[in-house]
Amino acid sequence: SHPDDFQGAPDTDYADTEKRTKAEEALQKVKQQLGKTYRPLINGEYVETANYLDSVNPSRDSELVGKVGQISVKQAEEAMNAAKTAFKSWKKTPATYRANILRKAADLMEERRNELNAWICLEVGKIIPQADGEVSEAIDFCRYYAREMERLDSGINYDIAGENNRYFYQPKGIAVVISPWNFPFAIATGMTVAALVTGNCTLLKPAATSSVIAAKIAEILVDAGIPKGVFQYVPGKGSEVGSYLVEHKDTHVIAFTGSREVGCRIYAEAAKLKPGQKHLKRVIAEMGGKNAIVVDESADLDQAVVGVVQSAFGYSGQKCSACSRVIVLSNIYDAFLERLVEATKSLNVGASDDPSVQMSSVIDATARDRILEYIEAGKQQSQLVLELPTPEGGYYIPPTIFAGVEPDHTIAQEEIFGPVLAVIKADNFDTALEIANGTDYALTGGLYSRTPSHIEQASGEFEVGNLYINRNITGAIVARQPFGGFKLSGVGSKAGGPDYLLQFLDPRVVTENI
Ligand code: NAD
Ligand code: ALA
Repeated sequence: SHPDDFQGAPDTDYADTEKRTKAEEALQKVKQQLGKTYRPLINGEYVETANYLDSVNPSRDSELVGKVGQISVKQAEEAMNAAKTAFKSWKKTPATYRANILRKAADLMEERRNELNAWICLEVGKIIPQADGEVSEAIDFCRYYAREMERLDSGINYDIAGENNRYFYQPKGIAVVISPWNFPFAIATGMTVAALVTGNCTLLKPAATSSVIAAKIAEILVDAGIPKGVFQYVPGKGSEVGSYLVEHKDTHVIAFTGSREVGCRIYAEAAKLKPGQKHLKRVIAEMGGKNAIVVDESADLDQAVVGVVQSAFGYSGQKCSACSRVIVLSNIYDAFLERLVEATKSLNVGASDDPSVQMSSVIDATARDRILEYIEAGKQQSQLVLELPTPEGGYYIPPTIFAGVEPDHTIAQEEIFGPVLAVIKADNFDTALEIANGTDYALTGGLYSRTPSHIEQASGEFEVGNLYINRNITGAIVARQPFGGFKLSGVGSKAGGPDYLLQFLDPRVVTENI
């Protein structure tokens, strides 16, 4: 194994006053553009629709971010037909041509970074430094997958005397990308550009609450030179347009990131052969987590508290990678809990565009109500040790901590997707790992420890796709921490890693007797 020398785009250093000023100017400029209408992109044209959806700022719900045209099933069919036509020539384009479109898109994202950060901040309530990390990640996906495609394109020769054997890849066909709202820019971009660079025609169906940001992705891809019909932006209702595209006989690949419920349904639907369908669909499903951090008696508690607070409450816990359980060894439990509660109390909660804010709202009223139900369930079963005042004007849930949680309690088993942390006591390290592994999920996990044998044991036994030792458990970086889980967290694919593109390709071998 050799180290990958891929260099990711650096995040903005907001300690620099000039950079802070530029960020603030971009935010003000974007605020002048709120409330505009965005139309779907079908076969190279921005089209009218019968229905429009309002996308609002969840941290200031009186603010309309944009109105987004929602396609009908008939328009989904038109997009599918355009994709099929475009595939005839797109599949024949040289890999480097496609890779260069991604590189151009990455450059455009870098140029528009401050503006994109502002859109993310306002549409999904993410504070600017975290939005900035997303833009870096999207840029990295473009540049890394461009390079990966060129690597795969060289194929493999298994020649022997008298016989040439060439191993190479071809695109699968039509890819449907169904993206979530919580990483509205990075994840939607990553899945889309992976599908495109491998030579598939791609339809992007974003989550409703992040459709304006997805419209920005469409703008960028068009400006980067993506041909008509090759990429299409098809916002619409998940249960209607999303499922129509999933079930379509001409869909070859479905790249989905979102909830377990929807992911499992898509997996099952995609398995059904439709009349006229002559292939099996590939489903990439990246779903939820119930991620735990284990803190043992040898841990640096200051470091552990900072890491747990960041992992649990960053973006209000609305990351699939977020920590929602902290499992603490009994002899340090009280000391850790006290420090954890103190540190969390100091988080400043408010509107996402306020530079002093560290945690903002949740995404919408439905999410807020669902999280409040979990908080009620937590109150029935364990002790609420931190509940802070709720800001007004948006869909706020302040950071919430429960102690004395048992491993089988509802809030220790189900993905809450909000700023709610369950603290669980374990008598010894083996039990701690058993508790950590005792859910349906296997996405991220963390360990704070200075005991080499514990670190080694966790590396082998902690059932997660991404294990982080002595650091926070969110914010995976492309080509450094390829990201994704297994069990009911997903199919085991790793975004930003060397195997990812293979899922969008069919390998072939041509043997020539010479
Ligand atoms: P969601 O499942 O509600 O929606 C995801 C997408 O699926 C949206 O675009 C939605 O419109 C679409 N959809 C809904 N019903 C559909 C149907 N019947 N057919 C086809 N498409 C349909 O998820 P969400 O609320 O947007 O995102 C949050 C979830 O995503 C959490 O569970 C989180 O853990 C998960 N997530 C996982 C990862 C990962 O890499 N594993 C990353 C981010 C988010
Ligand atoms: N890739 C995102 C993270 O690691 C989900 O936080």
